[in-house]
Amino acid sequence: MQTIRSIKKMQQVARKIVAEGKTSALVPTMGFLHEGHLSLIRRAKKAADIVITSIFVNPTQFAPNEDLTKYPRDEKGDIRKIKQAGGDIVFIPKAADIYPDDFQTYVEVEKLTRDLEARSRPTHFRGVTTIVAKLFNITRPDVAVFGMKDFQQACVLKQMARDLGYPIKFIIAPTVREKGGLAMSSRNKFFSPEQRFEARCLYYALRTAKAMVRSGVKDTVKLTKEMRAVIKATCPTARIDYISLSDPTSFLPEYEVDRDTVCLLAVEVHGVRLIDNMKLR
Ligand code: PAF
Repeated sequence: MQTIRSIKKMQQVARKIVAEGKTSALVPTMGFLHEGHLSLIRRAKKAADIVITSIFVNPTQFAPNEDLTKYPRDEKGDIRKIKQAGGDIVFIPKAADIYPDDFQTYVEVEKLTRDLEARSRPTHFRGVTTIVAKLFNITRPDVAVFGMKDFQQACVLKQMARDLGYPIKFIIAPTVREKGGLAMSSRNKFFSPEQRFEARCLYYALRTAKAMVRSGVKDTVKLTKEMRAVIKATCPTARIDYISLSDPTSFLPEYEVDRDTVCLLAVEVHGVRLIDNMKLR
Protein backbone atom coordinates (compact mmCIF):
# COMPACT_ATOMS: atom_id res chain seq x y z
CA MET A 1 0.00 0.00 0.00
CA GLN A 2 1.20 3.47 -0.90
CA THR A 3 1.09 6.39 1.58
CA ILE A 4 0.92 9.79 -0.10
CA ARG A 5 1.21 13.07 1.77
CA SER A 6 1.73 15.57 -1.03
CA ILE A 7 -1.20 16.92 -3.04
CA LYS A 8 0.95 17.09 -6.18
CA LYS A 9 1.97 13.45 -5.87
CA MET A 10 -1.66 12.40 -5.27
CA GLN A 11 -2.71 14.30 -8.40
CA GLN A 12 0.02 12.55 -10.42
CA VAL A 13 -1.04 9.13 -9.15
CA ALA A 14 -4.71 9.92 -9.86
CA ARG A 15 -3.84 10.88 -13.43
CA LYS A 16 -1.85 7.65 -13.83
CA ILE A 17 -4.81 5.56 -12.60
CA VAL A 18 -7.02 7.20 -15.25
CA ALA A 19 -4.33 6.86 -17.96
CA GLU A 20 -4.03 3.15 -17.23
CA GLY A 21 -7.77 2.75 -17.71
CA LYS A 22 -8.34 1.76 -14.09
CA THR A 23 -11.14 2.95 -11.83
CA SER A 24 -10.74 4.34 -8.32
CA ALA A 25 -12.93 4.72 -5.27
CA LEU A 26 -12.41 7.33 -2.56
CA VAL A 27 -13.23 6.74 1.11
CA PRO A 28 -12.83 10.11 2.87
CA THR A 29 -12.19 9.82 6.62
CA MET A 30 -10.94 11.86 9.54
CA GLY A 31 -8.92 8.91 10.82
CA PHE A 32 -9.08 7.01 14.13
CA LEU A 33 -10.61 4.25 12.08
CA HIS A 34 -13.07 1.70 13.43
CA GLU A 35 -14.96 -1.20 11.90
CA GLY A 36 -17.46 1.22 10.32
CA HIS A 37 -14.71 2.87 8.24
CA LEU A 38 -13.17 -0.48 7.35
CA SER A 39 -16.54 -1.69 6.05
CA LEU A 40 -16.53 1.34 3.70
CA ILE A 41 -13.06 0.39 2.42
CA ARG A 42 -14.17 -3.20 1.83
CA ARG A 43 -17.29 -1.93 0.03
CA ALA A 44 -15.13 0.41 -2.10
CA LYS A 45 -12.90 -2.53 -3.03
CA LYS A 46 -15.88 -4.21 -4.68
CA ALA A 47 -16.67 -1.08 -6.70
CA ALA A 48 -13.32 -0.04 -8.20
CA ASP A 49 -9.81 -1.25 -9.06
CA ILE A 50 -7.98 1.09 -6.67
CA VAL A 51 -9.20 2.24 -3.26
CA ILE A 52 -7.93 5.58 -1.98
CA THR A 53 -8.60 6.31 1.69
CA SER A 54 -7.99 9.86 2.83
CA ILE A 55 -7.21 10.80 6.41
CA PHE A 56 -7.68 14.46 7.22
CA VAL A 57 -9.11 15.99 10.39
CA ASN A 58 -10.77 18.86 8.61
CA PRO A 59 -10.60 22.05 10.72
CA THR A 60 -13.24 23.94 8.74
CA GLN A 61 -16.03 21.57 9.75
CA PHE A 62 -15.44 22.20 13.46
CA ALA A 63 -16.76 25.35 15.11
CA PRO A 64 -14.37 27.10 17.56
CA ASN A 65 -16.28 25.59 20.54
CA GLU A 66 -16.10 22.02 19.15
CA ASP A 67 -13.67 19.18 19.72
CA LEU A 68 -11.07 19.68 16.93
CA THR A 69 -8.04 19.52 19.24
CA LYS A 70 -9.55 16.63 21.22
CA TYR A 71 -10.46 14.68 18.07
CA PRO A 72 -8.75 11.27 18.46
CA ARG A 73 -5.85 10.45 16.14
CA ASP A 74 -3.87 7.29 15.46
CA GLU A 75 -2.13 7.59 12.12
CA LYS A 76 0.07 4.51 12.49
CA GLY A 77 -2.84 2.31 13.55
CA ASP A 78 -5.00 3.74 10.75
CA ILE A 79 -2.42 2.92 8.06
CA ARG A 80 -2.15 -0.64 9.37
CA LYS A 81 -5.94 -1.10 9.42
CA ILE A 82 -6.40 0.35 5.91
CA LYS A 83 -3.77 -2.04 4.58
CA GLN A 84 -5.48 -4.99 6.28
CA ALA A 85 -8.86 -3.95 4.85
CA GLY A 86 -7.40 -4.04 1.33
CA GLY A 87 -6.78 -0.31 0.72
CA ASP A 88 -4.32 0.56 -2.05
CA ILE A 89 -3.50 4.18 -1.31
CA VAL A 90 -3.76 6.27 1.84
CA PHE A 91 -3.74 10.01 1.26
CA ILE A 92 -2.78 12.11 4.30
CA PRO A 93 -2.51 15.76 3.28
CA LYS A 94 -1.25 18.50 5.59
CA ALA A 95 -3.69 21.17 6.81
CA ALA A 96 -1.34 23.91 5.56
CA ASP A 97 -1.45 22.44 2.03
CA ILE A 98 -5.23 22.00 1.98
CA TYR A 99 -5.87 25.43 3.49
CA PRO A 100 -2.92 27.64 2.55
CA ASP A 101 -2.71 31.17 3.96
CA ASP A 102 -5.38 33.39 2.48
CA PHE A 103 -7.63 30.42 1.56
CA GLN A 104 -11.01 31.96 0.76
CA THR A 105 -13.09 29.65 -1.45
CA TYR A 106 -15.86 27.51 0.03
CA VAL A 107 -18.47 25.20 -1.41
CA GLU A 108 -21.95 25.53 0.07
CA VAL A 109 -25.13 23.53 -0.49
CA GLU A 110 -28.16 25.66 0.37
CA LYS A 111 -31.50 24.08 1.33
CA LEU A 112 -30.33 20.74 2.69
CA THR A 113 -28.00 22.43 5.16
CA ARG A 114 -30.61 24.59 6.90
CA ASP A 115 -31.98 22.10 9.40
CA LEU A 116 -31.07 19.24 11.77
CA GLU A 117 -27.27 19.16 12.20
CA ALA A 118 -26.97 22.66 10.79
CA ARG A 119 -29.08 24.18 13.57
CA SER A 120 -26.47 23.28 16.18
CA ARG A 121 -23.50 23.36 13.83
CA PRO A 122 -24.20 26.21 11.38
CA THR A 123 -20.77 26.17 9.67
CA HIS A 124 -20.28 22.41 9.69
CA PHE A 125 -21.56 21.43 6.25
CA ARG A 126 -19.74 24.25 4.49
CA GLY A 127 -16.51 22.73 5.84
CA VAL A 128 -17.54 19.20 4.82
CA THR A 129 -18.55 20.14 1.26
CA THR A 130 -15.41 22.23 0.80
CA ILE A 131 -13.02 19.49 1.89
CA VAL A 132 -14.83 16.75 -0.01
CA ALA A 133 -14.88 18.87 -3.19
CA LYS A 134 -11.13 19.41 -2.76
CA LEU A 135 -10.57 15.69 -2.22
CA PHE A 136 -12.65 14.90 -5.32
CA ASN A 137 -10.57 17.38 -7.36
CA ILE A 138 -7.27 15.95 -6.11
CA THR A 139 -8.08 12.22 -6.30
CA ARG A 140 -10.55 12.19 -9.26
CA PRO A 141 -12.44 9.09 -8.10
CA ASP A 142 -15.08 7.21 -10.10
CA VAL A 143 -16.81 6.16 -6.89
CA ALA A 144 -17.10 7.72 -3.44
CA VAL A 145 -18.19 5.73 -0.38
CA PHE A 146 -19.80 7.30 2.68
CA GLY A 147 -21.54 5.90 5.74
CA MET A 148 -25.27 5.95 6.36
CA LYS A 149 -24.67 7.05 9.97
CA ASP A 150 -24.03 10.57 8.67
CA PHE A 151 -27.20 10.47 6.60
CA GLN A 152 -27.64 14.24 6.22
CA GLN A 153 -23.98 14.59 5.27
CA ALA A 154 -24.33 11.90 2.59
CA CYS A 155 -27.40 13.68 1.13
CA VAL A 156 -25.67 17.07 1.18
CA LEU A 157 -22.59 15.63 -0.56
CA LYS A 158 -24.71 13.87 -3.19
CA GLN A 159 -26.46 17.16 -3.88
CA MET A 160 -23.10 18.94 -4.18
CA ALA A 161 -21.80 16.31 -6.62
CA ARG A 162 -24.97 16.61 -8.71
CA ASP A 163 -24.94 20.42 -8.71
CA LEU A 164 -21.25 20.73 -9.56
CA GLY A 165 -21.30 17.92 -12.12
CA TYR A 166 -18.82 15.52 -10.55
CA PRO A 167 -19.03 12.26 -12.53
CA ILE A 168 -18.84 10.22 -9.34
CA LYS A 169 -21.04 7.33 -8.27
CA PHE A 170 -22.05 7.54 -4.61
CA ILE A 171 -22.31 4.45 -2.44
CA ILE A 172 -23.92 4.95 0.95
CA ALA A 173 -23.01 1.96 3.10
CA PRO A 174 -25.02 0.73 6.11
CA THR A 175 -24.22 1.85 9.65
CA VAL A 176 -22.05 -0.60 11.55
CA ARG A 177 -23.13 -1.04 15.16
CA GLU A 178 -21.43 -2.31 18.30
CA LYS A 179 -23.02 -5.23 20.13
CA GLY A 180 -26.00 -3.60 21.82
CA GLY A 181 -26.70 -1.24 18.95
CA LEU A 182 -24.51 1.83 19.51
CA ALA A 183 -23.49 3.14 16.07
CA MET A 184 -19.72 2.99 15.65
CA SER A 185 -18.06 6.38 15.92
CA SER A 186 -14.55 7.62 16.64
CA ARG A 187 -16.06 9.63 19.50
CA ASN A 188 -17.24 6.45 21.33
CA LYS A 189 -13.72 6.18 22.72
CA PHE A 190 -14.53 8.99 25.15
CA PHE A 191 -17.02 6.78 27.06
CA SER A 192 -16.42 4.69 30.18
CA PRO A 193 -18.10 1.23 29.99
CA GLU A 194 -21.15 2.54 31.94
CA GLN A 195 -21.45 5.62 29.72
CA ARG A 196 -21.07 3.45 26.62
CA PHE A 197 -24.08 1.45 27.80
CA GLU A 198 -26.09 4.65 28.26
CA ALA A 199 -25.03 5.78 24.77
CA ARG A 200 -27.22 2.99 23.42
CA CYS A 201 -30.18 5.30 24.17
CA LEU A 202 -30.21 6.56 20.56
CA TYR A 203 -30.47 3.06 19.16
CA TYR A 204 -33.09 2.00 21.72
CA ALA A 205 -35.19 5.06 20.81
CA LEU A 206 -34.94 4.29 17.08
CA ARG A 207 -35.85 0.64 17.65
CA THR A 208 -38.83 1.69 19.75
CA ALA A 209 -40.06 4.04 17.02
CA LYS A 210 -39.66 1.34 14.39
CA ALA A 211 -41.57 -1.19 16.52
CA MET A 212 -44.37 1.34 17.12
CA VAL A 213 -44.62 2.06 13.40
CA ARG A 214 -44.79 -1.68 12.74
CA SER A 215 -47.68 -1.94 15.16
CA GLY A 216 -49.57 0.79 13.30
CA VAL A 217 -48.59 4.10 14.96
CA LYS A 218 -48.03 6.82 12.35
CA ASP A 219 -48.33 10.00 14.38
CA THR A 220 -44.84 11.53 14.56
CA VAL A 221 -45.66 13.54 17.71
CA LYS A 222 -46.53 10.33 19.55
CA LEU A 223 -43.43 8.60 18.25
CA THR A 224 -41.15 11.48 19.23
CA LYS A 225 -42.65 11.60 22.74
CA GLU A 226 -41.98 7.90 23.25
CA MET A 227 -38.45 8.22 21.87
CA ARG A 228 -37.70 11.02 24.35
CA ALA A 229 -38.96 8.81 27.19
CA VAL A 230 -36.73 5.90 26.09
CA ILE A 231 -33.68 8.15 25.88
CA LYS A 232 -34.29 9.57 29.35
CA ALA A 233 -34.92 6.11 30.82
CA THR A 234 -31.64 4.78 29.38
CA CYS A 235 -29.51 7.86 30.02
CA PRO A 236 -31.13 10.25 32.51
CA THR A 237 -28.52 12.98 31.90
CA ALA A 238 -28.82 12.88 28.09
CA ARG A 239 -29.37 16.21 26.36
CA ILE A 240 -31.56 15.75 23.31
CA ASP A 241 -30.58 18.12 20.53
CA TYR A 242 -33.20 17.00 18.00
CA ILE A 243 -35.41 14.10 17.05
CA SER A 244 -36.76 14.49 13.57
CA LEU A 245 -39.02 12.31 11.48
CA SER A 246 -38.38 13.72 8.08
CA ASP A 247 -38.68 13.30 4.38
CA PRO A 248 -35.27 11.98 3.27
CA THR A 249 -35.00 14.23 0.24
CA SER A 250 -35.90 17.59 1.79
CA PHE A 251 -35.44 16.95 5.53
CA LEU A 252 -38.76 18.67 6.08
CA PRO A 253 -40.56 17.28 9.16
CA GLU A 254 -43.45 14.91 8.60
CA TYR A 255 -46.62 14.63 10.67
CA GLU A 256 -47.39 11.06 9.62
CA VAL A 257 -44.86 8.35 8.91
CA ASP A 258 -44.88 7.15 5.33
CA ARG A 259 -42.84 4.63 3.33
CA ASP A 260 -39.81 6.92 3.06
CA THR A 261 -39.74 8.59 6.47
CA VAL A 262 -36.35 8.57 8.09
CA CYS A 263 -35.88 9.24 11.77
CA LEU A 264 -32.75 11.24 12.63
CA LEU A 265 -31.57 12.27 16.05
CA ALA A 266 -28.69 13.96 17.84
CA VAL A 267 -28.16 13.48 21.55
CA GLU A 268 -25.40 14.60 23.85
CA VAL A 269 -24.40 11.73 26.13
CA HIS A 270 -21.96 12.57 28.91
CA GLY A 271 -20.62 15.53 26.95
CA VAL A 272 -20.27 13.62 23.65
CA ARG A 273 -22.61 14.56 20.83
CA LEU A 274 -23.87 11.46 19.01
CA ILE A 275 -26.03 11.15 15.91
CA ASP A 276 -27.91 8.20 14.46
CA ASN A 277 -30.80 7.50 12.11
CA MET A 278 -33.05 4.74 10.86
CA LYS A 279 -35.70 4.26 8.21
CA LEU A 280 -38.94 3.56 10.02
CA ARG A 281 -40.63 1.28 7.46
O1 PAF B 1 -17.61 11.89 7.84
C1 PAF B 1 -16.46 12.32 8.02
O2 PAF B 1 -15.61 11.68 8.64
C2 PAF B 1 -16.10 13.70 7.49
O3 PAF B 1 -17.16 14.59 7.61
C3 PAF B 1 -15.55 13.69 6.06
C4 PAF B 1 -16.61 13.22 5.06
C5 PAF B 1 -14.34 12.78 5.98
C6 PAF B 1 -15.12 15.09 5.64
O4 PAF B 1 -14.13 15.58 6.47
